[in-house]
This record gives sequence, C-alpha cells and structure tokens, in this order.
Amino acid sequence: MKPIIMVNFKTYKQGSDAVNLAKKIERVDKNILVGVQASDIYEIVKKTKLKVYSQHVDYLETGRATGFVLPEAVKSDKAVGSFLNHSEHKLKFDVLKKTIKRCNAVGLKSVVFASSLKEALKIEKLKPNYLVIEPPELVGGKLSVSESKPELIEKIKKKLKMKFLVGAGIHSFEDVKIAMRLGASGIAVSSAICNVKNPEKKLRELVKG
Ligand code: G3P
Repeated sequence: MKPIIMVNFKTYKQGSDAVNLAKKIERVDKNILVGVQASDIYEIVKKTKLKVYSQHVDYLETGRATGFVLPEAVKSDKAVGSFLNHSEHKLKFDVLKKTIKRCNAVGLKSVVFASSLKEALKIEKLKPNYLVIEPPELVGGKLSVSESKPELIEKIKKKLKMKFLVGAGIHSFEDVKIAMRLGASGIAVSSAICNVKNPEKKLRELVKG
C-alpha cells in the first residue's frame, strides 16, 4: 500500500515561500496532503493540484465575531479540509466535536491529531476522516516516532478500528517503512521538509519515488 503523506507547513512557511514549497511538493506527488495557514490556501490551490488543508478552523457560524477562521471561508478558497487539534493548537474535546460537525456540514474533511493512544480512542468516536497520532515530545525533533516508539504504533494498530497516520520526527525512508510495516496508513511530517535546503530531494527520499 502506498503511504498517505501529509506535509504540515506550520508557521515555518507562508506567503510566496509556502507557494514555492507547495510547487516542489507537487513535483514529487500531487496526491500529497498539505496543511497550510488559512491565508495561503487560495494561492496554493490556484497554483498546484495538491490536496490543500487549512491548519485550523473555528466552529463559529457566520455572524458577529472577529478574528476567527470559518469552515465556509476555507471551503470557498477550495480547501479540501482542515487539520484540527494538533498538539500545537489543542482544542477542548467539546470544541473539537463541534468543529468536526461544522466541517462535515460544509463538506470539509477533518484531519484530527491525537497526542496519545488514549486520546486517539476518544477521537475515533467522532469519526474524523483521518486520525494522526504524534507524541508531542518528539515533534520537531531528530528522533522519530518510528525509531523511538515502534511499540506505540503496534499498540495503536491493535486498539484502533479506523486507519491512522503517525508523525513526529519523521526524517527518513526507514521511518516511513517502519510506520507502514507496523500498521500505519501513512505519515505526517513537517520540519524535515519545511526546514531543509532541498525539500523536493528530501521528500523523494522519504517516499523513494
Ligand atoms: O504535523 C506534523 C508535525 O507535527 C510533525 O512535525 O517537525 O516532527 O515532522 P515534525
């Protein structure tokens, strides 16, 4: 099975840098999912064929509120969906529930992050489109979840009914291979792609063509 690859741009890249990175990712594989800041969705959708996700949306309805990003807004910019509950943007469980509901209502897919198996089991009940488990202490580091917590991936595979991805510290083809062998359907990656000189080469290395 071909791994699902998600690249989270975080706040490492925005504006023209984000568009350039997206173009490089597209050259590797247009089926890669990218999570970008809401302000970059429109341009990246226009300039690539990638599946573009917002990094967050709020559950509010249209009306009197300031500074929120509504599901309708990213939908009209042609985002495919939204990331939610990343360890760097945690939501309370009831807020997450409402936000997934709002995404479903406007036709946005939800990619929900969990920091542990326990949290993943709770989130699974909300039926997101994708569930990504990332141990927060490994996020942004050099040691991957595949290298340092293979037993966690195996345990997730045993306990979860739905498919899942893993992320945190992923930086090599070996990391992707281990994750897939232990039962993940794909990986989420950020710093190994967003913060390198040649992201295209690194991404090709991760997915080995
Ligand atoms: O969402 C992916 C991300 O949190 C993983 O970050 O830098 O460890 O690949 P990184």
